[in-house]
Amino acid sequence: KKLKDSYIGFFAERGHVEIPSASLVPQNDPTTLFISAGMHPLVPYLLGQSHPAGKRLVNVQKCLRTGDIDEVGDTFHHTFFEMLGNWSLGDYFKTEMIPWSYQLLTEVLKVNPDHLHVTCFAGDSNAPKDEESANLWLSLGIPQDRIHFLPKKDNWWGPAGTTGPCGPDTEMFVDTKPQSGPVDFETGCRQGRLIEIWNDVFMEYNKNQSGGYDRLSQRNVDTGLGVERNTAILEGHQDNYLSSIWQPIISQIENISHLSYADPNNLRPMRIVADHLR
Ligand code: ALA
Repeated sequence: KKLKDSYIGFFAERGHVEIPSASLVPQNDPTTLFISAGMHPLVPYLLGQSHPAGKRLVNVQKCLRTGDIDEVGDTFHHTFFEMLGNWSLGDYFKTEMIPWSYQLLTEVLKVNPDHLHVTCFAGDSNAPKDEESANLWLSLGIPQDRIHFLPKKDNWWGPAGTTGPCGPDTEMFVDTKPQSGPVDFETGCRQGRLIEIWNDVFMEYNKNQSGGYDRLSQRNVDTGLGVERNTAILEGHQDNYLSSIWQPIISQIENISHLSYADPNNLRPMRIVADHLR
């Protein structure tokens, strides 16, 4: 609740209107079975329709990602989760959003800036290398060796279905084991030591039916910060299931099964059952 209130409050102070979480079942969208991101119910507005609440929105959205089912069982993937997000519908862009992300993470959520890594889009035939985002991170004090340029498969987000708004993104990662010394980005991610905590997507493209990318009539910002991951990090856990969100479910599974979550053999199965129950 504290995380949600801090996030919503931060963006409300910057002119955003809070909108309610949409249903997990998409309305008027035949391209997918479930809402998988906060931007999903906002697609018509990212494409240019005017939103009744204005050009700056914030919310906490219930999401379900069937694509992550096989990842469930590790420390930080879930099928159902909640996503905090804020949107600019043709209003502010990178020069506002990146400093706000840095400020919220380091000043409000008190993430140590020395423990942050960020990624930016490396560029390809569809869109240029995102030097602008990288330069903004540099100007905020993130050193070059913690800014990583990655290709489309990592640093491009969307569309949520087969067609629609999408664009290059910049993702923020926290080093959850800084005491172990510097870590190479790829190794840190593979080990589950570097965890992605927030994603700023700069949606200025529309993927069309033939797989091409057209420029949108407006430049949007779409961001997503996972409530479960961030709660675990803020509470100092390297396993989401040890956080206050999951502990009541894990304890109940322990009570019913007479097995312990502390036994390494039970970690994966208990996480999967907990995710399923939730
Ligand atoms: N839509 C973006 C995501 O889900 C923010 O990561």
